[in-house]
Order: sequence, then C-alpha cells, then structure tokens
Amino acid sequence: MSLVSKVQQIVEEFTISDELLNAAVDHFIWATEHGLRHHTDLGMPMIPSFVTSVPTGKEKGTFLAVDLGGTNFRVCSVELNGDSTYDLIQSKHPVPHDYMVGKTEEFFGYLADKIEEFLKVHHEGHFAQEDVEKKIFKMGFTFSFPVDQTALNRGTLIRWTKGYDIKDAVGQDVVLLLQEQINKRKLPIHVAALVNDTVGTLMTRSYTKPEGSENSTTLIGCIFGTGTNGAYSEKIKTIAKFDLTQNPEMINEKLMVINTEWGSFDNRLKVIPNNRFDDQLNKLTPNPGYHMFEKRISGMFLGELLRLVLIEVQNDIFTGGGVSDNSTNTNLNTPWSLDSSIPALIDADDSKDLTKTQQMVKSVLGFDTTIEQRQAIQQLSKAIGKRSAYLSAVPIAGLVLHTKALEKFSQDIDVGADGSVVEFYPNFEQMIRVALRKTKIGDQEKRIKIGLAKDGSGVGAALCALVA
Ligand code: GLC
Repeated sequence: MSLVSKVQQIVEEFTISDELLNAAVDHFIWATEHGLRHHTDLGMPMIPSFVTSVPTGKEKGTFLAVDLGGTNFRVCSVELNGDSTYDLIQSKHPVPHDYMVGKTEEFFGYLADKIEEFLKVHHEGHFAQEDVEKKIFKMGFTFSFPVDQTALNRGTLIRWTKGYDIKDAVGQDVVLLLQEQINKRKLPIHVAALVNDTVGTLMTRSYTKPEGSENSTTLIGCIFGTGTNGAYSEKIKTIAKFDLTQNPEMINEKLMVINTEWGSFDNRLKVIPNNRFDDQLNKLTPNPGYHMFEKRISGMFLGELLRLVLIEVQNDIFTGGGVSDNSTNTNLNTPWSLDSSIPALIDADDSKDLTKTQQMVKSVLGFDTTIEQRQAIQQLSKAIGKRSAYLSAVPIAGLVLHTKALEKFSQDIDVGADGSVVEFYPNFEQMIRVALRKTKIGDQEKRIKIGLAKDGSGVGAALCALVA
C-alpha cells in the first residue's frame, strides 16, 4: 500500500461521522440521567459537589486556594474585590513524577511544604500572630480527580486519572490527608472546601461574568487540558441518588453543582470510537478501561496517539525518499514521549514546505523527512486533533439538551472553559462549533458562547471556601 493510501485509511479510522456524533450525544444524555439516579462504577459518575449556589460577582474577601491538576500544583492567594474582579498571587510547581506514583504521606507532605513556602513569602504576618486561632485562613482545595464527595470539605478518592498512581491514597479522604500535613507544619489553615477544577471553573466564570451580563447565563464549566471534564447546575430533586435524609442541611436547597466526570463517559465503548491505536493507548495507562472518553480527547493523550500512529507508518514516513534514516536516537518507541504541543504545532504549521514540522520531527524524533512525508504527518495529526474537538462537542451538546437550556433561557448560553487544549490547540473551538451544528443543536449553536475562564480552578476554589 502506498503512503498516501495508508494515511487515508488511518485518517478514516479517526473520522467521526455525523451519525456517530448524534448517537454519542443521545448516549451522553442517557448516561447523564442514569448517573443522576444510580451510583455506578463504570458509568458516568455525576458527583454531587455540595456547592448549591453560583456566585453573583459581589463576593469579597481574601482566601487561599491550592490546585492540584494533571501537571502542576499551584498555591494561590485570591482577593475577591466584590465587583466581579479579583487579584491573584500564585506559585506554580510541576509535580515531580516520583511523587505522582509514590506514597500518600510523602505526596501530601510535598503539597503542604509548597503551601508553607508560599505563606512564608506572601503572608509572613500570619506566622507572627500570637492568637493564631483568629487568623486562620480558609482554604479551597481544587483536586482534579474523581472523589466521592460527602460534604463540601470531605471526599474520598475513587481513582487516580491522568497518569497519577499513588495506590494507598485510593479510598481515603483527601481533605483529611492534606489537613493532617498542614497541621503537622502548624500552618494557620483550615481546608474549607474540596472542589473539582470544573466546579471551580463554573464558579469563576459566574463570578467574573455574573448572570445577565453580556446577555448570557453560565451553564457549564469545563476543562480541556491534561484531562477533560465538565460541571453544571442540576435541580436537587432530579438527583435521585442524592439521599436528602443523609444530608438534611440541604433540604431547602434547590440546585446543586454536579461534577459529571465526563472523562468516564461510555467506558463500555457502546458508542465512542475505538480504533487499534485507542486500544494500544488504553493498555499503556494506569487506569485501563476507565476514563475512555478522556483518552480520545485530552492533552495527555493526543501526543501519545500520534506516536502510536507514527510507529505504524514509520517505514514509510521516516525512511526512503532519499533522506537519511538516523533513527538510532529516536524517542519514537518511548511511550508518552510526545506531548500534545507537538501535534498542536504540526497541525498549525502553515510554513512553506512545513519547515516547522521538519524541525520538530528532527528535534523530537531525530528523523529527516521529505515534504511528502511531512504532509502525511500533518494529515495524521489533524485527524487526531479534529476527532478530539468533535468528541468535545458531545458533552456540551448533551448538557445543553439535557438541561433544556436553549428553551429555558432567552439569553445566550455561556460555557466557561479552561485548559491547554482549548487554549492552544489550533482552531479547537471552531472545530467544536462545526460539530455542534451537526447535532440537534443545529444553528442554535450561535447562542452558545465558549469563553476562556483563566485561573478558573484557583479562583473557583476561593469562591467555594467563601461559601463554606
Ligand atoms: C480528569 C479528572 C477530573 C478533572 C479532569 C480535568 O478527568 O478525573 O476530575 O476534572 O481530569 O482536569
């Protein structure tokens, strides 16, 4: 088979037909409703967050927030000014891989050390207080992994995602684990809220863009970054699995923000595509069989999918055509060696003769390529990126349809989004929009505004600490 036909075949394997897209949206709506009724292991978790209102923009105060994401740990001090604006000081630390797969105590100890360093630099006064009790900071803890939440500041870890694998932490309350390390260091901090990053993003977007302003209503907070997930407000009476007798303090509440954990949509692969590269990738992850939707979409996986595809066509792409095969030092056979910035750069390359792709392939994989070979690599990258964006439209369409937001609100529907993929992958939002138009949303797509909610998870955690 020629290179052109091989590439064509792989591109087809990554193509989402209109039929598949619509079947996926229908199945997403079913999974949403099922998850609200039943506690499920393989199904979509639909986790009640214990957050029962969204901000108005008038909130005020200084709060600490920490944010553990897929790649970084951030410590922030957030000042909410009460007028939809905030000031933020933060320190950011890439989490060392050894901690990500190490022991619980050491890991949470590492987080507490970073909090201590931050306080020493930015809130020195707090250490000098004699009456520390009165000066205790309320801290919001953004923890971007699935937890079974039992109160605003209680939640047990269901499982790790995005490459983390600290085995003995599973089943433990992550707030208590962090508070224990904070107490050991005698820091004046009370962990007041445990927040998923998507819940934080929804809160931030609502704070910075209060309802009614810009003529829209914030419906969804979502992340397309290392992982992917979304949160939205649900009527408490619809959350059949939420036992009000166990949570009598919630009896008068009407709404609750739900962390969908949509990364686990369709783990059984009833509808979403599963080609041989998806299959190989799944086997390389520490959570095989879970978060299957995420593994087709988010930043942690796009580069790895490209690597697996390139392995299959390597004999056509990296040799022949008169170019030298200097592959002795290649990363091609090293799992996770390509991060998502690589397909993003290749996809966006509009330089003459794809020279940027040439440099990238040479520096990362060590190969020279001909123009035809680079065009093939670009086509393959684009296919992976486009599938990711089309699939990303599924939960957005699904939640808009499930909540009947287009009929309920006369204004536009606002979606707050954060994460490296939506921010940096070329044309990601435009591709989501093309896919939205192919669903039942149709031309109402223009009423859906997707706005970046930068720092969403940090500010959102502060807003949740305030509620607490
Ligand atoms: C993963 C986590 C989820 C988080 C998402 C985005 O899917 O399980 O909790 O919200 O990544 O960071």
